[in-house]
Amino acid sequence: MKRLVVLSGAGMSAESGLRTFREMGGLWEEYDVYKVASPGGWQRDRALVLKFYNERRKQLLEAVPNQGHRDLVKLERSFDVRIITQNVDDLHERAGSSNVLHLHGEIRKSRSTVDPALVYDIEGWELKVGDLCEKGSQLRPHVVWFGEAVPAIEEAAEIVSGAGIFVVIGTSMNVYPAAGLINYVPPGVPVYIIDPNEVAIPESSRIKVIRMKAGEGVRELMREFNIKTRT
Ligand code: APR
Repeated sequence: MKRLVVLSGAGMSAESGLRTFREMGGLWEEYDVYKVASPGGWQRDRALVLKFYNERRKQLLEAVPNQGHRDLVKLERSFDVRIITQNVDDLHERAGSSNVLHLHGEIRKSRSTVDPALVYDIEGWELKVGDLCEKGSQLRPHVVWFGEAVPAIEEAAEIVSGAGIFVVIGTSMNVYPAAGLINYVPPGVPVYIIDPNEVAIPESSRIKVIRMKAGEGVRELMREFNIKTRT
């Protein structure tokens, strides 16, 4: 089966009611990214950082996958679908996608601050100051903050290097190294961009822009590939 690689971002989950970051009304308009999502912010005020992610987690627990997430699962009947997501939510998994790689971590997990190999599922929505790993150190959200390395990027680049089709959904392509993954798409492979707004990538004849929201955009993609959209 041909490999179809999806790079998804916050816009993928927008129709599930989760806010994006850089649009008007986005999260980075309301919060100072360095205070809530950087190692420096964590050093200064752990409670504030935990509160920010607790709110996000609480909302996520109330959210459900949208039509876009669900249709990507249907694409698995026709393609070897590999999803690389910048999202820290688990909506691709809950929709039923079998191959999901999280570039920026997972908000429903916590991680030890002394041993990054110690990762735990968070029960419920709250992670608190004083919640410790088995080695006695404070737990932090299992997410990648600004200024931190992206451990999954090499695996992601490898996946993109084997793409037969590359689809970018709901990311402004402002954050690296994730945005640089497009440079690993093999020559001649078609690239689709699904986003209702303009995205920061250089124009190229192989790029087809589907200027729609994720839900209707994935439908359009299925029509393009002559895949049944009902059921
Ligand atoms: N369907 C598809 N795309 C949408 C929708 C929708 N319903 N609504 C908005 N979008 C698009 C916006 O037009 C924008 O291009 O989603 C994109 C969201 O961009 P950002 O807010 O920059 O989010 P993202 O690209 O995922 O951010 C990358 O930045 O702050 C960090 O770690 C965080 O993973 C995140 C990373």
